[in-house]
Amino acid sequence: MTYISVIDLLASDAIHQEFTVKGWVRSFRANQFMALNDGSTIKNIQCVVDFENMDEALLKRITTGAAVIVTGVLEESQGAGQRVEIKVKTVHIEGDADPEDVKRTILSPKRHTLEKLREQAHLRVRTNTFGAIMRLRSKLSFAVHQYFNEHGFYQAHTPIITGSDAEGAGEMFRVSALDLENPPKKEDGSIDYSQDFFGKETNLTVSGQLEAETYALGLGKVYTFGPTFRAENSNTSRHLAEFWMIEPEVAFNDLADNMDLAEDFIKYVIRYVLEHCQDDLEFLENRLVDEDKKKPQAERATMLLREKLEFVIANNFKRVSYTEAIAILRDSKPNKKKKFKYLIDEWGADLQSEHERYLVEKHFECPVILFDYPANIKAFYMRLNEDGKTVRAMDILFPGIGEIVGGSQREERLDVLKEKMAALDIPEEELWWYLDTRKFGTCVHSGFGLGFERLVLFATGMTNIRDVIPYPRFPGHAEF
Ligand code: 4AD
Ligand code: MG
Repeated sequence: MTYISVIDLLASDAIHQEFTVKGWVRSFRANQFMALNDGSTIKNIQCVVDFENMDEALLKRITTGAAVIVTGVLEESQGAGQRVEIKVKTVHIEGDADPEDVKRTILSPKRHTLEKLREQAHLRVRTNTFGAIMRLRSKLSFAVHQYFNEHGFYQAHTPIITGSDAEGAGEMFRVSALDLENPPKKEDGSIDYSQDFFGKETNLTVSGQLEAETYALGLGKVYTFGPTFRAENSNTSRHLAEFWMIEPEVAFNDLADNMDLAEDFIKYVIRYVLEHCQDDLEFLENRLVDEDKKKPQAERATMLLREKLEFVIANNFKRVSYTEAIAILRDSKPNKKKKFKYLIDEWGADLQSEHERYLVEKHFECPVILFDYPANIKAFYMRLNEDGKTVRAMDILFPGIGEIVGGSQREERLDVLKEKMAALDIPEEELWWYLDTRKFGTCVHSGFGLGFERLVLFATGMTNIRDVIPYPRFPGHAEF
């Protein structure tokens, strides 16, 4: 038997032809109208059941959540909001869903809060909202690979388990293969964790950057796109303990090239979803409009979701040095109290999210690329500027999100890099392989890391990062 997906069926012109569709019942109205969804699209196909001529027992089993295989004839629909429908010939119940059990889940057809949906992460993908988010996430991921493939990049699969912890991007999760029944012991009798990985202490990676750098100095243009891990105990709507990061790294690119690449890349993937996820974006946009109606006027969004995405594509990101940004922040009166919670009165301080949001949302009102940060608040590998106190770092800040990208031109000079490592007590023995790249044909090179979930947040208009990844990992949440 040949099957057709709902998305293809809804686009089909084969009126009066017979088709078989497989999916899950979303609702069954008046013993007659079955809304069937198979995940291929946000839309359902209406399957019209001739209930008078159907077995009573079978009819009872057509319930919300049940898996069914429907065979019937495609007809033009009289109903509002749909072009076609299926006139059902046979229904096969593949898997029942007991209505009493369904009532206790988020599959029950009523509005559930996002918090409630999060508690049933295994079922939430069957809701309209999460179907839309996860399809969009998948398309966005595809666009990432397509962009790099079209622009001459090779994907480098950098390791997840690593002995290097010198990146300094955050706390690491330890990886241990120790036999805890019979662990290696230190002299004082305590467990010797330095033996974690058959004789080496290992962690889950916080970034594939250092390895990607070594690959860029051989393949020219590379990118990584994989899971990364941060063991900080941060319970915010922007942080996950496990998130996916996209990290391009390009030989011979300087900081300005790096900014151009990041901006071009972001615009490309956003344009891709605007073109390829129209139904899901429309749904998510309407959802936001409904949410907004519950808020006071002053808190409502000024742009619709798709307008916001179009705006990002159409306008240049504003490029501002850290020093200029500090001057703007010093002179600004951000709120009624005319003060930030954390005062910016000294050059050299790290920006807090309130400052970043002020710059993006109030001052410039567009995405901002901040560059040339003070060396002492950034990582050791960033290229020192001629002023001796700033580095060629860049952060991209997005409205409603804050930091979406962190990157830099890398320090390519062996002597400067060694000095920097010594000052930060980073042992050369640990990074001898990284230092080798600066000994054998070193060159200017640059790259950045983009947090994929933050991009999905922006593209979907969602506000909590836990809602844009299938199974979010955050403190206390890792059971399934
Ligand atoms: O700024 P970060 O820490 O930069 C790096 O890791 C560099 N090694 C990247 C590079 O140059 N190749 O992280 C990069 C981005 C951030 O801008 C943010 O979007 C995201 O990763 N990110 C997180 N996303 C979700 N949860 C977290 N805990 C995140 N930490 C960083
Ligand atoms: Mg950062």
